[in-house]
Amino acid sequence: MTILVTGGAGFIGANYVLRRLERSQERVVVVDALTYAGNLESLAELKDNPAFAFERIDIRDADAVKAVFESTKPDAVVHFAAESHVDRSILGPRVFTETNVLGTQVLLDAAREVGVKRFVMVSTDEVYGSLGPTGAFTEASPLQPSSPYSASKAAADLLALAYNHTFGLDVVVTRCSNNYGPLQFPEKLIPLMIINALEGKKLPVYGDGMQVRDWIHVEDHNAAVDAVLEKGRPGEVYNIGARNERYNIDIVKQILTHLGKPESLIEHVKDRPGHDRRYAIEPQKIESELGWRPAKDPSTALGETIEWFMANASWWERVRSGAYRDYYEQQYGNR
Ligand code: NAD
Ligand code: DAU
Repeated sequence: MTILVTGGAGFIGANYVLRRLERSQERVVVVDALTYAGNLESLAELKDNPAFAFERIDIRDADAVKAVFESTKPDAVVHFAAESHVDRSILGPRVFTETNVLGTQVLLDAAREVGVKRFVMVSTDEVYGSLGPTGAFTEASPLQPSSPYSASKAAADLLALAYNHTFGLDVVVTRCSNNYGPLQFPEKLIPLMIINALEGKKLPVYGDGMQVRDWIHVEDHNAAVDAVLEKGRPGEVYNIGARNERYNIDIVKQILTHLGKPESLIEHVKDRPGHDRRYAIEPQKIESELGWRPAKDPSTALGETIEWFMANASWWERVRSGAYRDYYEQQYGNR
């Protein structure tokens, strides 16, 4: 069995590939363009693993994508690659449409052409838009994306389902809530706040900080992706979440407490335009149909993540400085 993982040098994708190759020696081919968010150092421990291969390919490049599908003949695709940051999509939406929508279409076409047996489309709960104070998103909730990022993900998610409906491609869609854990790029809330607190810098909380996100550890997300890959029904959507709603401000305060830093570091800044107020996932379908349950204890997992960032300062310092890009040249430059 060969699995082609797009975006495998990013936060969730790298955790996925590391976890997968720990458990089995099935071949994993990572396809990643190594944008600012892709860091091959996250996969450095796999470089001599014969089951692992890396291809630096932009998913918008149809010829390159077709060639890698033809040469590797994947049985399954797990599609993580995306522009993933909401704030960046507000500053510059175009690349979000190009990568998230057109890139997904390129992959779906290639998957059809070589007869891929299963295509897992990693979508997001943000396609549902924002909730009021009660209730949770189910798979039947209407799609009401509010940022350029979430609109592009909704388009990709629907395209994938259309390829199932129209062409019979075996597609399964996942819609997960906010992830945290090791290797997350320090532009996202949790790593940004940990690193700023460690450095004694201000912690920029958007607006009143009373927005709610439903946090899941990346390992639980990836175990759910595997459950969907292995047991999900074609053409179905599976929500993924750990029933762990938190106010942003409480997450930020917990980080400060864990690090013994003062709350005076918190700075309320201008709110994100169109900021979604609350997300919450109802994961009943994946729990009852596929038997998946989150394994991480939310009362300790955030602390473990803080400890990981403390212990891996060299990782995030290189990410921040852009030095991690030199690793690619060193490792692959002469090949
Ligand atoms: P990330 O930004 O950390 O990683 C994205 C990866 O995709 C990077 O390695 C990058 O190099 C690669 N990439 C970007 N554009 C590319 C292109 N044109 N061609 C090839 N590769 C390209 O993102 P993440 O947080 O790991 O998210 C992974 C996926 O999971 C995304 O599809 C995202 O929408 C989805 N998701 C994320 C979360 C979350 O909380 N982070 C929650 C639910 C769903
Ligand atoms: O819900 C799933 C989504 O979660 C994924 O699809 C996205 O790829 C992922 O980036 C994430 O989107 P969010 O916008 O929820 O994540 P972010 O970490 O950017 O922000 C989390 C919350 O924290 C949000 O309410 C905005 C707020 N925030 C964020 C940053 C970076 C701040 O208050 N200050 C900040 O500096």
